Amino acid sequence: MNDLCIEARALSKHYGGLVAVDELSFEVGAGEVLGFLGPNGAGKSTTMKMLTGFLAPTSGTALVNGHDIVEDSLAARRSIGYLPEGAPSYGEMTVRRFLEFIARARGFEGKSAITSAGAAIERLNLDRVPEQTIETLSKGFKRRVGLAQAIIHDPSVLILDEPTDGLDPNQKHEVRHLIRDMSSEKIIVISTHLLEEVDALCNRAMIISDGRLLVDDTPQGLIARSRYHDAITLVVEQPEKAASVLSELPQARKVELREGELTVFPADGKKLFEVISDTVRENNWQVSELRLEAGRLDEVFRQVTQGEVS
Ligand SMILES: Nc1ncnc2c1ncn2[C@@H]1O[C@H](COP(=O)(O)OP(=O)(O)OP(=O)(O)O)[C@@H](O)[C@H]1O
Ligand SMILES: [Mg+2]
Repeated sequence: MNDLCIEARALSKHYGGLVAVDELSFEVGAGEVLGFLGPNGAGKSTTMKMLTGFLAPTSGTALVNGHDIVEDSLAARRSIGYLPEGAPSYGEMTVRRFLEFIARARGFEGKSAITSAGAAIERLNLDRVPEQTIETLSKGFKRRVGLAQAIIHDPSVLILDEPTDGLDPNQKHEVRHLIRDMSSEKIIVISTHLLEEVDALCNRAMIISDGRLLVDDTPQGLIARSRYHDAITLVVEQPEKAASVLSELPQARKVELREGELTVFPADGKKLFEVISDTVRENNWQVSELRLEAGRLDEVFRQVTQGEVS
């Protein structure tokens, strides 16, 4: 018995001549919250649709809790909850009716369908709107209905396709809170374009592009790939003068002035914070901001997906 819960083996999807997913292999184990990153059209949703049995792979397969998604699709699907991209269909149904319908489709009968729909309503804080039709709900509530149908059968694996897309900051916060809440007991794979979400929710991140895996790392590991990692950025009066002084420091590899901000990049393995603070003091510079950079995820993303160095 191993505790690998998802095991994708050379998973591929072709649409005519287009290779949407190209022999993708990866494993996800217990305790992992995996973020799928990648530009539009990278193949994130297609991969998720294959994992959840909504789309047959062109070749390759995946195992979910040991069940092959091609050979044993029903068993695989039983242990997965899936939030597709966009809003749930069946807009004319009320929240309660919809969730009871999903519960029955998931094999609950009679009273137990009603009970499990009720439990999902409670879990996702839908108590105020159970009798409202889905099409009349706000986006945030629609997303919660989507999450409710995904967890109704208490699956051990959750696949969530852009769960916070299009939500206002409060709703984003709330949906993230719900996801974090579930992450202690479930394996979660989410796709997102919001890099801060990966930092906030995930303990692992995969960047895919053109259907291929480019990077598989922790969010911290990803951020450390940034050329800004351990750099110092400061906002100072007379930045040109400061730049020429700072570029003489032996600990500095390079100094850049961009949009009024001065960034000093460390020479290999060197630390800059103290020496720069000292230099500021010695020269009596007027500094309104001085910060140590952890790294910039958006820059890493561009670098990885476009080979771009900013
Ligand atoms: N049914 C389809 N028929 C033809 N091509 C498709 C179909 N579905 C997806 N594609 C193509 O497959 C590629 C991958 O699409 P996919 O939706 O998986 O990307 P994605 O990473 O989810 O992108 P986004 O970030 O925009 O959601 C794209 O080029 C897309 O146009
Ligand atoms: Mg998508």
